[in-house]
Amino acid sequence: MSGRPSDPPLQFSPYVPGTAEEDIPGSPEGERPLKLASNENPLGPSPRALEAAHRALQQSHRYPEGSGRLLRQALSRKWKFPAEQILLGNGSTEIVEMLARAFVGKGAGAVTATPSFIMYRIAVLSANGSCREVPLKNQRFDLPAMAGACDESTSLVYVANPNNPTGTYATKAELEDYFGRVPDSVLTVLDEAYAEYLDQADYPSGADLLRQGRRIIVLRTFSKAYGLAGIRMGYALASREVISVLDRGRSPFNTSRVAQAAALAALEDQEHLQRSRESNRFGLQFLQQALASRGIRFTPSVANFLLVHCEGPAETAYEALLRKGIITRPLAPYGLPNSLRITVGTDRENRRLLAALEQTLQIPGPGAF
Ligand SMILES: Cc1ncc(COP(=O)(O)O)c(C=O)c1O
Repeated sequence: MSGRPSDPPLQFSPYVPGTAEEDIPGSPEGERPLKLASNENPLGPSPRALEAAHRALQQSHRYPEGSGRLLRQALSRKWKFPAEQILLGNGSTEIVEMLARAFVGKGAGAVTATPSFIMYRIAVLSANGSCREVPLKNQRFDLPAMAGACDESTSLVYVANPNNPTGTYATKAELEDYFGRVPDSVLTVLDEAYAEYLDQADYPSGADLLRQGRRIIVLRTFSKAYGLAGIRMGYALASREVISVLDRGRSPFNTSRVAQAAALAALEDQEHLQRSRESNRFGLQFLQQALASRGIRFTPSVANFLLVHCEGPAETAYEALLRKGIITRPLAPYGLPNSLRITVGTDRENRRLLAALEQTLQIPGPGAF
């Protein structure tokens, strides 16, 4: 039983998700609410994924195949790892939690960075582990400091590559240097939630590092470039040993029949993935140029979102944008009270955002585009 008077209070705040579109009215001009708060794919799901999900719904009275065998086999062909090295999760967040449950607690802890994806900390503290958070350096992971923060009690290091909320990434050379420093006993969690958006030549492949025998688990998701955030499907690539430890603690039907079918079809729809990538590349470049030309400060990003820095509390800009029907993410929970995280939208959405930002921040009007 939890909640006994003698229970110590949990030393962390709950995860704060982005405001939902259903919870706000549209703009005063009658436009629909625009959600740019949770790094979702503005193009929506692949039509093939939707069709497969509909078909799977008809078998909803039957439990799914618990391990997602067909999807794991497809991922096995894609990554050239045996299916025994692949585990599915109800979103990659579930695997973040499974890792904490399996590897921390009872004196063992984890290292991560701050600011980074808040669920690492929440998962580790929920599992009664200790969590050391190493500050970013120049908005990027300070990997030597993270390796240095590990001691004999450290079992996990969580590295988001690229990082949320900064959109910055660790290079191949930086990760190689890190693996030269981190103790062999540590399992490094390389969270590649946004990897599909990157084509930088020096972006490291977690799968290659795993093949080279690094002690690593790679997390991937269908929530971002594959456009299935609402369906919930993520996966991990790791050694047979690590996967088998996690699999023993997995709840028997952790991913649904519908999610497995949709993800399998999405994986096969490379055209939709390619369109999503191109749309993001175009939108990211457009937004970065437009913000720079208006003197709005931001952290250059490689992902599908931008960290925008305000002159004062970002809550003010968040509220003002909300009144125009646009939902962004104020980052006080990440310890960045003056920053907003904004997801790259479609071209039309990005232009609506810019127009609203201009009015909100009272910066010079268009002209540049
Ligand atoms: C770094 C990172 N990892 C994981 C996730 C969550 O992914 P999923 O929807 O697969 O749980 C996010 C979502 O924002 C993220 O930013």
